[in-house]
Amino acid sequence: MPSTTGNNLSNGDKQKYKFKPAQHLPLTEKCQHYTNRADVPLELQKYWAQRYTIFSSYDDGVAMTDDAWFGVTPEPVALQIAWEMNDISKEKTTIIDIFAGAGGNSIPFALSERWSRVISIEKDRDTLACAQNNASIYGVTDQITWVLGDSFKYLSLALTNPASLDPSLRIDPETTVIFASPPWGGPGYTTDEVFNLHEMEPYNLSQLHEACKAMDHALFLPRSSDLRQIAKLMPAGKKAEVVQYCVEGASKAMVAYIPAESSSKATFYYHTGDD
Ligand SMILES: C[S@@+](CC[C@H](N)C(=O)[O-])C[C@H]1O[C@@H](n2cnc3c(N)ncnc32)[C@H](O)[C@@H]1O
Repeated sequence: MPSTTGNNLSNGDKQKYKFKPAQHLPLTEKCQHYTNRADVPLELQKYWAQRYTIFSSYDDGVAMTDDAWFGVTPEPVALQIAWEMNDISKEKTTIIDIFAGAGGNSIPFALSERWSRVISIEKDRDTLACAQNNASIYGVTDQITWVLGDSFKYLSLALTNPASLDPSLRIDPETTVIFASPPWGGPGYTTDEVFNLHEMEPYNLSQLHEACKAMDHALFLPRSSDLRQIAKLMPAGKKAEVVQYCVEGASKAMVAYIPAESSSKATFYYHTGDD
């Protein structure tokens, strides 16, 4: 296992890495904290009306890009997911939120104090600035290692060329869990009774699974996702566990908990006996 401390690195060492932790990013004009309905773009007003469900500390200065409103995980759902993930074997010590967005999931993961490391990756600079701001409102920004970049590239390098990553971003797949809440889109996503995950855009189920399969991974998916497609990913003898997350009786999303392809364990949730 390589060293995970980034101390004592020369400037030359720092420049040679393809991924490094992001510094504190300033909020930009795309990071908004809307306080008046009249200022909120029409297509966002239904989300803004639910702002205190999305972030209970909204009034403390939560910032969002306009796009982030569409994909943020509401706080009760994110807290429940983080709470349930407390039950994963204690040998798992790192969690990577590969689509960090405005921090909706990363913040509860850090608040849970379950993880030695929370690594949160987001490719959009403005959105990452919002996530850092929001995490600081919840008092956990320093508990999260932020990364500005493409998660697929990061995961590929983490597995095949860890020396190309800053030491603080290197991971041990055996002790790492991935959480993935990708953007949801594609034909039929809002209309089909059963959503075809192979048509999900911009990343379909196969792309997500391929990138994540070396580690236990939790996929946050539309509530109508086709369970048969998830089941087909499972090698013989292994099971995915799927949980529907509801707010006021209506499902908001499902999470498929999928064990690592190479794991000797049959399921994602398992206990070492000392839990
Ligand atoms: C559905 S949102 C995540 C919302 C987040 N769970 C939250 O509660 O705030 C998906 C995010 O993934 C980001 N994203 C999309 N493709 C990415 C990639 N290849 N690498 C990193 N981030 C990506 C998008 O910019 C967007 O912010």
